Amino acid sequence: MTIRPATPAERDTLEALQLRASLGNEGDREALLRHPDAIEVPMEQIRAGGVFVLEQDGAVVGFSAIATRADGDTELDALFVEPATQRRGVGKRLVEHCAKVARSKGSSCLHVVGNPHAERFYLACGFSIVGSFNTRFGPGLLMRLAL
Ligand SMILES: CC(C)(COP(=O)(O)OP(=O)(O)OC[C@H]1O[C@@H](n2cnc3c(N)ncnc32)[C@H](O)[C@@H]1OP(=O)(O)O)[C@@H](O)C(=O)NCCC(=O)NCCS
Repeated sequence: MTIRPATPAERDTLEALQLRASLGNEGDREALLRHPDAIEVPMEQIRAGGVFVLEQDGAVVGFSAIATRADGDTELDALFVEPATQRRGVGKRLVEHCAKVARSKGSSCLHVVGNPHAERFYLACGFSIVGSFNTRFGPGLLMRLAL
């Protein structure tokens, strides 16, 4: 497994991966079809070096995205793993990479608005639940990992 910054040319590939991964969350399909704009990997974020892809045997099987918050902490903006490759440690590796980058930027916490489907994953990665947040797609969990 290798993790590297995404390139602008990969944007469509990553958005297609995001859609496949998101459709795997039971109950999210209708919300996704109502809000197709939810599937977006911002070009500025790729150009800023905030999107990371994980390659396995030359194929991109997951990606994550981070952004610096006003308080200096880091937000985990996106995390998606190819459905056929889930539960093999890819998501955890991407979280660890984002935590390392966030730490190197001086952040003290990595934050995420977690999809409830991913609650047990984030807890397994060491995040704590600190609140809840109503997104336009439904309830989200405010979660935080101390760095
Ligand atoms: C959430 C997601 C990124 C996790 O990635 P992953 O590569 O499958 O997760 P990992 O294999 O690294 O899991 C690490 C640990 O988290 C826990 N975990 C992961 N998925 C889990 C699940 N569905 N149920 C319970 N525990 C889970 C397990 O403890 C797992 O370790 P184990 O497999 O040794 O038991 C992936 O399932 C995904 O892309 N989901 C769809 C999109 C999504 O909801 N993204 C999050 C948006 S906030």
